Amino acid sequence: MSSDNNRANWGSKLGFILAAAGSAVGLGAIWKFPYVAGKNGGGAFLIAYLVCVFTLGIALLLAEMVIGRTAKKSATTAFRDLKGGLWPWAGRLSVLCVFIILSYYCVVGGWTVAYIGRSITGEAITADTALLASAFGSFIASPAQALGYTAIFLGLTVAVVLGGVEKGIERMSKVLMPALFALMLLLIARALTLPGAIDGVRYFITPDFSKMTSAMVVDALGLAFFSLSIGGGMIIAYGSYVSKETKLVGATLWVSTLATLACVLAGLMVLPAVFAFNVDPAAGPGLTFITMPAIFAQMPGGQLFAVAFFLLLLFAALTSSVSILEPIVSFLIDEFGMTRRPATFAVAIASFIVGIPAALSFGPMADTLFFGKNAFDLMDYVASNVMMPAGGLLAALFVGWAIWPRVKDELAAEGASAVLPAFRVVCAVVAPILIGVIWVHNL
Ligand code: ALA
Repeated sequence: MSSDNNRANWGSKLGFILAAAGSAVGLGAIWKFPYVAGKNGGGAFLIAYLVCVFTLGIALLLAEMVIGRTAKKSATTAFRDLKGGLWPWAGRLSVLCVFIILSYYCVVGGWTVAYIGRSITGEAITADTALLASAFGSFIASPAQALGYTAIFLGLTVAVVLGGVEKGIERMSKVLMPALFALMLLLIARALTLPGAIDGVRYFITPDFSKMTSAMVVDALGLAFFSLSIGGGMIIAYGSYVSKETKLVGATLWVSTLATLACVLAGLMVLPAVFAFNVDPAAGPGLTFITMPAIFAQMPGGQLFAVAFFLLLLFAALTSSVSILEPIVSFLIDEFGMTRRPATFAVAIASFIVGIPAALSFGPMADTLFFGKNAFDLMDYVASNVMMPAGGLLAALFVGWAIWPRVKDELAAEGASAVLPAFRVVCAVVAPILIGVIWVHNL
């Protein structure tokens, strides 16, 4: 992806939608959504998540796309070029946010790499979930394995980012994302026909409103932002490579629908199995890695499906991790005139170092708690539940108040005048109030 004066564009309109959807659909949907929904009581969480996506999420996704395309720069430079003043700090905050995310995201990406190997050897395929849980526990507790696989995943991410727009991200997305959705549908069919699975479906779709606490709503808000890739400048960076011919409103609808669908499908895949195999729905970050192998064990050709699943999950994680790395690299290029290669390597090395405590959080540093959380959970909480909503809030205020006349012209030019009033109200009023209320309530 070349930046600078002759900024590259996505190869086609579909290319941008696929890449942005690739950014959105990742570990957030398949690894994080099921365990956060499981921990928060299922149905009520699903409703809170959907409300966050369809009120704030869609509007903020569009806001970030418009900022990126109008400025043709990554977040910090975009905020400066379009308005200046203190606004570039909103961009710097988003860079810090995605840097923290990258540091622990690669740890989970590493788990995925490891599980490809474990599927190939057949080690990870058994219906004995107690065994699966203990195997997963000892794997993530091993510093050598946790750090080694984190490094492999980070290396893969760097390789894709250095490959550039056409060669790397777009080409991969076109084939493999539909394959991931198709495989998820197949796995849902298997999960739903397991004895006892219906209790998991009930848990997932029946809201128990007594579970709707302010902490849960903060989790839903954070996951909505995380799963749509908003609030961290990712979509601003991707939007900066979008040509004027691409209709942003349509792209927004596609991306948010695919991202939400991926979360719901992941919930329907994992939670029925959780109940069928008597796993605790609140088991935490290992949930997908513990239940999926049990599903594979119950399928003819399960080993093949296991390898395919973890390979596609790796691909989904990579199309997201490149979008997490990209805004940091673009920041260094746009702000400091660095070239792509050294910028990418510098970010990767720094992120590996900062990710060490996250990688060791389930082993040697399990008892090292900060505010009652291990390093991994703390980084995830601060980045997704605090910094992403803050970044989204700033993008909303920026679009709704600071640069509205330009945004209006930009969207009117693509024939989207009809959505302008609602879009402005959400950015200028609804998003700040909702995010503010959720935060204050949670204090
Ligand atoms: N949106 C990305 C994911 O959910 C960060 O994996």
